[in-house]
Amino acid sequence: MSALYGELAQYWPIISPVNAYEDEGRFIAGILKAGKAHEILEFGCGGGHLSYHLRDDFTMTLTDISPEMVDMSRRRNPMCDNKVADMFKANLGRDFDAVLIHDAADYILDTDQMDAAFRTARKHLRPGGMLLVVPDHLADYWQPSVMTGGSGDVHYEARYCEREGGIRIDFTVTVGDRVIEESHDIGLFPQYVWVDRLRAAGFAEVDELDASETGWGERVAFVAHAPA
Ligand SMILES: C[S@@+](CC[C@H](N)C(=O)[O-])C[C@H]1O[C@@H](n2cnc3c(N)ncnc32)[C@H](O)[C@@H]1O
Repeated sequence: MSALYGELAQYWPIISPVNAYEDEGRFIAGILKAGKAHEILEFGCGGGHLSYHLRDDFTMTLTDISPEMVDMSRRRNPMCDNKVADMFKANLGRDFDAVLIHDAADYILDTDQMDAAFRTARKHLRPGGMLLVVPDHLADYWQPSVMTGGSGDVHYEARYCEREGGIRIDFTVTVGDRVIEESHDIGLFPQYVWVDRLRAAGFAEVDELDASETGWGERVAFVAHAPA
């Protein structure tokens, strides 16, 4: 497990503040409401910061591969069902109106993993249910960048660099005198690949919505419907 989502999970509210997810929450809630979805399963909920902005309007099951992040999500959203699960092979034994993959989509590294995530999502959807995928990055628009943040004793820097076949993020987190550095490989796919793989996973209809209003540059939300 990475340090960022493991021992540093306790600092997630400083590294990635809950308020930063408000615009995305509003945008995603609009799509889920338009699809008449009530029961939602999120893959890769992290500290539950996005879901904090959804939990009053939907019944949410929040899952993440990191037990430390699930713990943070449980503290943030105690009224939701918070569980450890891997988006590539979860089996919660029940189905939902919608499955949401938000920025955890970054951790899909290749099309085999994409297929696995979409199969896992489909298995958890009612007939006609919705898979909503909102990746942070698309190869069509991506540019290298640096993000910084933090407050008090905790500061972080994330450098997004090109690597063969994707992006590498070099994180530096400072907690008091301690400096923790780690790199994450994340995926980078063109828009058409998301659509092709959603169709290949058996989603009958795939809509591509402009998500730039979420405030993170040019971005697309993929809304895929399982056969009714
Ligand atoms: C950027 S964080 C998500 C932050 C989250 N949107 C929030 O509101 O706090 C990405 C998350 O993806 C999770 N993740 C990575 N690979 C995963 C997998 N295979 N299955 C489930 N979660 C995964 C990480 O553990 C991490 O918590």
